[in-house]
Amino acid sequence: MRCLKWLKIVSLSIGVLFIGIQFVPVQRTNPPITGEIQAPEEVMHVLRKACYDCHSNETVWPWYAYIAPMSWTIESDVKVGRGDLNFSEWSEYSPMKQDFKQAQSGELVAAGEMPLWFYVPLHPEADLSQEEIDLIVAWGKEAE
Ligand code: HEC
Repeated sequence: MRCLKWLKIVSLSIGVLFIGIQFVPVQRTNPPITGEIQAPEEVMHVLRKACYDCHSNETVWPWYAYIAPMSWTIESDVKVGRGDLNFSEWSEYSPMKQDFKQAQSGELVAAGEMPLWFYVPLHPEADLSQEEIDLIVAWGKEAE
């Protein structure tokens, strides 16, 4: 009986905590697009469906991005992702930086490091076919 009482207290506390953390402000922004990358249409298609949620100012925030604690992780991935590479602000990069980021994109896709692994099961369209991977890798090599 004592055990049941504790179980109630613990689950109630978790419930209260869960509701409480929903009030921590999270910023799901989409700043203006200042100079989007220009790439061949088929490359753009892959970048849009597999990279843009974290590397552009056109993030589609999913419903679970509105529920803490997932919202914190997602906000942070987008913030860090945009900071490293933002296809919506591409024209602000120097030609050298553009080449570097393009080459790096090819390398990370070839290595299976991008898109991030946990993103793929939640976004099946980002599960790239071998052809799509080859396309991005070839595009990356153009900038090496
Ligand atoms: C779920 C979010 C997410 C998706 C989707 C995603 N990325 Fe990233 N990307 C990140 C984060 C976070 C970082 C920075 C941290 C890191 O290096 O792991 C990053 C870093 C990068 C970097 C810079 C690495 C460095 O060391 O500076 C490149 C290039 C990159 N991603 C390319 C891509 C490409 C190309 C795609 C699509 C095929 C993609 N990413 C999809 C989140 C994402």
